[in-house]
Amino acid sequence: MLLPRLYFQHFTSGSFLAERNGELVGFLIGFLSESRRGESYIHFVGVAPEWQGGGLGGYLYQLFFDYSRAHGRTVVRAITSPGNAGSYTFHRRMGFDVEPGPVAFDGRPVHPDYDGPGLDRVCFVRSL
Ligand SMILES: CC(C)(COP(=O)(O)OP(=O)(O)OC[C@H]1O[C@@H](n2cnc3c(N)ncnc32)[C@H](O)[C@@H]1OP(=O)(O)O)[C@@H](O)C(=O)NCCC(=O)NCCS
Repeated sequence: MLLPRLYFQHFTSGSFLAERNGELVGFLIGFLSESRRGESYIHFVGVAPEWQGGGLGGYLYQLFFDYSRAHGRTVVRAITSPGNAGSYTFHRRMGFDVEPGPVAFDGRPVHPDYDGPGLDRVCFVRSL
């Protein structure tokens, strides 16, 4: 599960919801790193299918970049699954670099077993 309840209890300051006519149409769950004082981290972003491609995801990212800068953060990180080509392109368009990995999937650098056995990830980093 990507969004257990703890995110809505302990990580609300850096998270943003977008509503249209009272309906949730997008969200970003992020936070300032507790351990790396110059960094922030985007845990998960989602835009409702009928709203994708209209700039909402980018807007939520800009809000989070501004929030991070306002708290003195100079680096933001995120990860995604190797097969999520849309997320990969989105993050590249948002200015993220891809951290080199030992293997590749469809040309995307991958860190095998990053989140545990079989849970490979692509790692993004962006300067603010
Ligand atoms: C990834 C996601 C959040 C992007 O949100 P969005 O509102 O559609 O993105 P935007 O319209 O703001 O797009 C910003 C840029 O990324 C590009 N982009 C976004 N989604 C893309 C996709 N699936 N494929 C190719 N490019 C994409 C847009 O073309 C745009 O580029 P531009 O600046 O050249 O115009 C959304 O597609 C989504 O919810 N996907 C499913 C959930 C998911 O995969 N989340 C990420 C897991 S880490």
